[in-house]
Order: sequence, then structure tokens, then C-alpha cells
Amino acid sequence: MDEIIIKGGRSLSGEVVVGGAKNAALPILTASILAKGKFTFHNVPKLRDIDSIMELLSTMGADVDCDGHTVHIDTTGMNHYEAPYEQVRKMRASILVLGPLLARMKKAKVSLPGGCAIGARPIDLHLNGLSLLGADIKLEHGYVEAACKQLKGAEIYFDIPTVTGTENLMMAAVLATGTTVLRNAAREPEIIALADVLIQMGANITGAGTAVITINGVKKLKPVTATIIPDRIEAGTLMVAAALTQGDVKIKNCDPIHLKSIIHKLEKAGARVQVFKKSVRVKGQKTINSIDLKTMPYPGFPTDMQAQFMVLMSVANGFSVISENIFENRFIHVSELCRMGTDITISGSHAMIKGVVQLSGAPVMATDLRASASLILAGLAAKGTTTVSRVYHLDRGYESLEKKLAGLGAAIKRVSVKKKT
Ligand code: UD1
Repeated sequence: MDEIIIKGGRSLSGEVVVGGAKNAALPILTASILAKGKFTFHNVPKLRDIDSIMELLSTMGADVDCDGHTVHIDTTGMNHYEAPYEQVRKMRASILVLGPLLARMKKAKVSLPGGCAIGARPIDLHLNGLSLLGADIKLEHGYVEAACKQLKGAEIYFDIPTVTGTENLMMAAVLATGTTVLRNAAREPEIIALADVLIQMGANITGAGTAVITINGVKKLKPVTATIIPDRIEAGTLMVAAALTQGDVKIKNCDPIHLKSIIHKLEKAGARVQVFKKSVRVKGQKTINSIDLKTMPYPGFPTDMQAQFMVLMSVANGFSVISENIFENRFIHVSELCRMGTDITISGSHAMIKGVVQLSGAPVMATDLRASASLILAGLAAKGTTTVSRVYHLDRGYESLEKKLAGLGAAIKRVSVKKKT
């Protein structure tokens, strides 16, 4: 088991390059199920969640090969339609195989993901949409079993804009007969990235990135070579690191358009942000202003950046309120942050944060992916040493974050620790 040890107090400076987006790569890799042949994907981040989806595709009979940040997938011999519990429990996004499996094999058996640390996260909207497309769906022995003769286009209205739900339905509908209209669809950049790859494969999709996506089914799709878009959450996390440490950091290979809500909030908090075509430069100031924020579906402020902003507000000048509107249990990082001297009170979906002058380093435990990032950020700003354990959560979604931060001057290292008996 690894731990990350940080000696806080250093100001970050220099340049850092953002990797490919986990949340774009996951659905795009599963989209390979939709066509027989050889796919190549570039700029795929090296993450545990990506390993999990590659392992799942291999289990289903695909030939998967990884060379640095390039992934080759040959789906010619794919013949299994089951995503077993042992694999789905490692990563909820495994549910993304459901739509493409149904579309290609007319059958799918995918373990129900179950709850996770940040909330119940149901998949009812995925299942409801697929049954409107004509799939016969049964829930038995902890599995979703879905089958169809042929999916047929339909009007689908999402009660809540769900990201993976929109992706699953889009992938199911591309090979359905007739027209599917997804209403109240999620508008995240990762949805556009997936649609772009599907279109390149021969799909007929319009409206991705808006709340109404129209898909005219086609008979067959072809394999492609594509590049994964930059990770806006990794970029945002590095931007907060710069603001928090009064640093001066240029974050390269990002898409500033995807970062608008984050830039807006950082500027309100007092940081100076310069925007270039494919990079942003963040200069932190001595005084951090306290601001309120609410997490919302894109283009609102991302829930995946909530924990990181909470750390920034923990050392801001005054009170701030952070409201979490996407997931019901996404404040689990708070108790660990409080061990580092933050002053945070939770009331339902609101966190009241009173800025303190100085955080103090402590041994803390990562509880989920973004919570781990927030603890590392807190460690950068704290006085003394912070040890973050259970960093396997971090490795699900950040590639070598500690190396990137060390490259910017942070005193941070990863150590291997023998399991205590
Ligand atoms: C995706 C992202 C995750 C991000 C989240 C919200 C991936 C792989 N993961 O997760 O990093 O935090 O979007 O931006 O892209 N809901 C239902 N029923 C459903 C589906 C969702 O009630 O069938 C609810 C959820 O409980 C949640 C809200 O809808 O309250 C949004 O969740 P959703 O967009 O589906 O999140 P994910 O796609 O799981």
C-alpha cells in the first residue's frame, strides 16, 4: 500500500501538462464494443479505472494492448456479454458496457454497481431509457440482464441529466432502427467527445453538448483512431494548487472553454487567471477571498471539483458556503480535513466553512477519488508534514499527481508501506 507524504508551505511555480480525461476515455473505450475491428486511442491516461475497463473488455474477448498512453483494442473476437461483479464493483463506470453490448450482441449481463462512498448512485435512468428502446430488462441475483431482438429509436426524457446515462443511451441508440431523441441530456464536454468518436465511426448524432441529442440509427459502425480530450478536473485541481500556495503555474494541454466555471470561481476567490488557447496560467494571491458555490451539472460548477475548492475556502478570508447538489454523501473528506485544522460545519447538503489562518499537517486517510486530491492540496498548504494513506483512490483518477506537483516545487513523495498486521 502506498502513502503520499507532503511537507507543506512551498509555493508552486513552473509548467505542468494535463493528461487525457478519465471520464472521456472510459465511455470511448467501451464504444469500441460497437464495431468489429482494430481501434487505436491516443492520450489515454494511465489510471486504475482505465485498467479496470481494459480488463473488462479483455474478459469479453477483446484483444487489448497498452503502449504508454496509446491503447489498441481489437474487438473482432469479442463474444462474451457479461460484466461480472468482481469487475464492476471496482468501478461503477463499468455500467457503460451495457448500452454498447445490447446494441452489438442484443444481450448483456452486467452486475449492478451498488452504492459507493459518495452516495447511492442508482442506474434507474439508464435502465428506463434502454427499456424505452425496446430492451427487455430483468434484475436478478444482483445482475441487470437485458436482451432485445433489435433496439428501436424512441423519445427518452431524463428526470436528471445523467452523464454516464446519456452516454449509455447514446451508444445503445446509434445502432437502433429509427430516431432516438434524448431530452434533458447531460451536456458535459465528455459527452461531446464520445459523440465525436461515434460520429467518426459512422454514427449519425446531432446536438451533443446540448440538452437535446438526436440519434438516427445506422446499420453498421467502423473502427477508428481517436485522441482523448484533456482532463478538466486534473487541470482544475492543479489550478487550485497554484491558487492555494500563492504560486504561479502554467497548466498546459487543457481546454480553457471546459474550465470556465472553475476559472470564474478562482478569479472571484482572488487568483489571477490568464487564459491562452490550450493553457491557463494561475497566479495565487496572499489573500484568498471567501466565496459561495453550488455544484451543478455542466456548464455549472463540477461536483468533481467541490472537495478541492473546499480546501481553498478553508484558508480564505471569512465564511463561505458550499452546496453539493449532485451527490448526497459527498462531504466525506470533511472529517479528515478537520483533522488538519479546518473549521467546517455540515448541514444537509451545505458545508459552512470558516477560513482559518493556517492548516496543520496530519496523518489522514483518502476516502474517495476527489477527496484524496483535496487532502493532498490541504497538505501543500499546511504547516508540517501530512501523510495521506489509501492513495489507491487517487490512482483511480490522477496519473502521477505527486510527480506533477513535485515538478512544480512541492515537497511531496510516494512511499510504499508494508501492510500492518
Ligand atoms: C459522472 C462522472 C463523475 C461525476 C458525475 C457528475 C464518469 C465516469 N463519472 O458520474 O465523475 O462526478 O458524472 O458530474 O463520467 N442518477 C439517478 N439515476 C440514474 C443515474 C443518475 O438518480 O440512473 C443521479 C445520481 O445519483 C446523481 C445525478 O443523477 O445524483 C448525476 O449523476 P450522473 O451524472 O449519472 O453521474 P455518473 O454518470 O455516475
